Amino acid sequence: MSQKVESWGSRVGLILAMAGNAVGLGNFLRFPVQAVQNGGGAFIIPYLVCFLVMGIPLLFIEWSSGRFGGKFGNHSTPYILDTMAKGRVWKYIGVFGIFTNIAVVSYYCYIESWTMSYVYHSLIGTFQGMSQGDVANFFSDYTTIGKSTTGIPYEAIVFYVICLAINTYILSKGLGGIEKVAKIGMPLLILFGVILAVRGLTLGTSGASEAFPAGNAWDGLNFLWTPQFDSLTNPKVWMAAAGQIFFTLSVGMGTIHCYAAYLKSKDDVALNAVSAGFMNEFVEVVLGSLVVIPIAAGYLGLDWVLENAGFGMAFQTMPYLFQQWGTTLAAIAGLLWFGLLFFAGITSSLAMGTPWVGFMRDEFDWNQTKSAWSFGLLALIMGLPTVFFYNMGVFDEYDYWAGTVSLVVFALLETIVFSWIFGIDKGWREINEGADIKIPNIYKFIIKYITPTLLLIVFLGAIFTPLNNDWAGNLSSLFSGNGWTLDNSSIINQLAFSGIEEKIAATTDTVEKERLLDQKFYISMARFMLLGLFLFISAIVYVAFNKRRREGRNTL
Ligand code: ALA
Repeated sequence: MSQKVESWGSRVGLILAMAGNAVGLGNFLRFPVQAVQNGGGAFIIPYLVCFLVMGIPLLFIEWSSGRFGGKFGNHSTPYILDTMAKGRVWKYIGVFGIFTNIAVVSYYCYIESWTMSYVYHSLIGTFQGMSQGDVANFFSDYTTIGKSTTGIPYEAIVFYVICLAINTYILSKGLGGIEKVAKIGMPLLILFGVILAVRGLTLGTSGASEAFPAGNAWDGLNFLWTPQFDSLTNPKVWMAAAGQIFFTLSVGMGTIHCYAAYLKSKDDVALNAVSAGFMNEFVEVVLGSLVVIPIAAGYLGLDWVLENAGFGMAFQTMPYLFQQWGTTLAAIAGLLWFGLLFFAGITSSLAMGTPWVGFMRDEFDWNQTKSAWSFGLLALIMGLPTVFFYNMGVFDEYDYWAGTVSLVVFALLETIVFSWIFGIDKGWREINEGADIKIPNIYKFIIKYITPTLLLIVFLGAIFTPLNNDWAGNLSSLFSGNGWTLDNSSIINQLAFSGIEEKIAATTDTVEKERLLDQKFYISMARFMLLGLFLFISAIVYVAFNKRRREGRNTL
């Protein structure tokens, strides 16, 4: 490696950057929705268990693997894994750690760009006097082609391109730029979060209106925080909990490896990993649950929240709810809320840029600027279809394959490499080297056996999800010789387009049929783009491998 080796400026900067990587839109937008859709209090216990037996172990694995690879001058997963295991194949598993980031950042920045636009519109008073329906329509116009000048191809595209450009520019400044954003963004985010959370906590029934007389913020909080032990036997809730833990901690992505690769060889990873992980959980479980759900329940009632929970809920409702606080407070609240989301988003999207940048610098001697702008270009090419065809399912398709399935697959494979190929004894030594805390020995057992077993169960469960998630019913049907009926949410049926095919077959309305056929086309295009990206990165890894061999550089 001929480039000057970068490293983090300070421990505080590193922790904040790592916490910023984890704390993201997932904490404020995805977590409340997952919790609501999976029974509120029923979700919390599986979620916390998944944090302890999958989240924390994966944090240890990724931090220590990253620092280990960094000692050999490798800053992205292909060659981090290559240094951990003999054989040519491992570096291709590492392709996931670059692919996922480029695919996720391309749609993640789209949501990030909504937050910028909503800050702007809150400040100029666009939402003043709007009914709740108007606010919801504003969002749907914003994400639809040709509906309004705020939508596509106008303002929505402008904000998206600006957002990507800001990310790329900061990335081009190296770790120092990321550290600076994290040092400013994280404290601000926590401050904004606390202010809004206090409002969520103190709202009570004061927001109830004639249209929604049952509005009570406490209903939302009770729903989330009353544990229900019966969920412990419901696999669907476990899957959702595991998925949320992966997304929110950014494990299975490759960003943690990359950040950790810039540590010094004797820097602590154990305490750092736990600190960043717990900071993320504080923001998610405490702040994430005290804003959208109680405020929406306070104004619109819990029934409304249960019916409408979804990713866009915060954009479709919060500006309207803020309007009830008067013009000035509404503008301030809009700035705080969407500003908070922006900081949460950008500290995560910046992290997603680093694996590509690290790889191009390590392997092809590209400088930071060229690596960063090539990343921006790739993200733009991948991202424009998610912007233009958001309503045709392209965005959701990316989120499913890159933001969900890919995380589980990579986490499973890297856990096997770490525990069984690199070897748990070596791995445990790596985790403990320079550690500022004593990790309980039980974690050695958990990392070797429990984490990979659970990951395998989650993955197999996603591949073979039974109809209506009825595991007990389908198992008894299987054993009595009547077979296993797959749900359309299973990976197999998703691959086979079963859900959309069923809808096409069922509709007699020609316009609707046409729309569904179009949607199928766009979904196929999204898959083609994702596959193309994966193959493209694999090819680059192959070229890098040959280059290393020609130059006699370390490759196993
Ligand atoms: N971990 C990031 C989030 O929660 C990706 O949004």
